[in-house]
Amino acid sequence: MPLVDVIVTDIVQETPTVKTLYLSNADGTSMGAYSPGAHIDVVGPTSITRQYSLCSRPDGTETYAVAVKREDNSRGGSVALHELKVGDTLRISEPRNLLGIAVDATKHVLVAAGIGITPMLSMARHMHVNDIDFELHYFSRSEQEAAFLPLLRDRCPERLHAHVGVARDDQAALIGAALAGAATGTHLYVCGPDGFMIKVAELAGQHLPPESVHIENFHATEQPVAGSNTAFEVELDGETFHVPADRSIAQVLIDGGGDVDTSCQEGICGTCIMTVLAGDPEHRDSVLSTSERESGEVMAVCVSRTRGERLVLDYY
Ligand code: FES
Repeated sequence: MPLVDVIVTDIVQETPTVKTLYLSNADGTSMGAYSPGAHIDVVGPTSITRQYSLCSRPDGTETYAVAVKREDNSRGGSVALHELKVGDTLRISEPRNLLGIAVDATKHVLVAAGIGITPMLSMARHMHVNDIDFELHYFSRSEQEAAFLPLLRDRCPERLHAHVGVARDDQAALIGAALAGAATGTHLYVCGPDGFMIKVAELAGQHLPPESVHIENFHATEQPVAGSNTAFEVELDGETFHVPADRSIAQVLIDGGGDVDTSCQEGICGTCIMTVLAGDPEHRDSVLSTSERESGEVMAVCVSRTRGERLVLDYY
């Protein structure tokens, strides 16, 4: 995916560990609108690429905003972003949306924990402005760590359920209560730590069909050791490629001249998703929804494979 240069035009310290970076096009042109819930790839000063949800106004045009939580035990991506100054430059991708608002839903339940609030900001703003029925459940360990909580209390207090300092064991009851009696057509969206998202998705599954549960996951799942992989063949545009056990489909297709975009290479960003015309994908990504996986019609070719002998793919 092509990257563009942007300038950091403002920095706001939201909490002791979260900063919002405001980004503008280096050439002065408008950033444009984006669909609520979208994210961008950000290539930081250490050349590490990470995905961040956009939390500026989705209908705004001047700047994008991303909120970065400082993770001191990470590989340094967020620490380097926290050291940026106004006027520094970054490279970002175009927005992509893996948490799009279901247009046919009758009600939306947004559930966030910690920095997982970021994609919910643009979604809540869009729903609030357009008078779409929603409620937002925001779990935070403390008031001090709850980024954007004052903003949400100011803008949509009647939609907001702030669960501050709730013990982990008590979270399920609150989420269950929010979903009890959910009307047909209700959709749930969740973003937060892995364990939290898994728990919420399991609870949601007791009330809603799988296609109504949407997860924003920017963490890669652990991959099986390469030694357990098998070789197979992939057909694209009538040409057959051999995928050995130690290489990904994306690597093989790109080396073979295929026009396959990649970014994270970890199965979390969705850039490399391709259409499956034939064959049985073995999904190893963290980006597709349950219903997308079960359909067998799409796959993330940077990490996913097949247990069979052949896949026929097309561009997505
Ligand atoms: S390149 Fe990010 S999911 Fe494949």
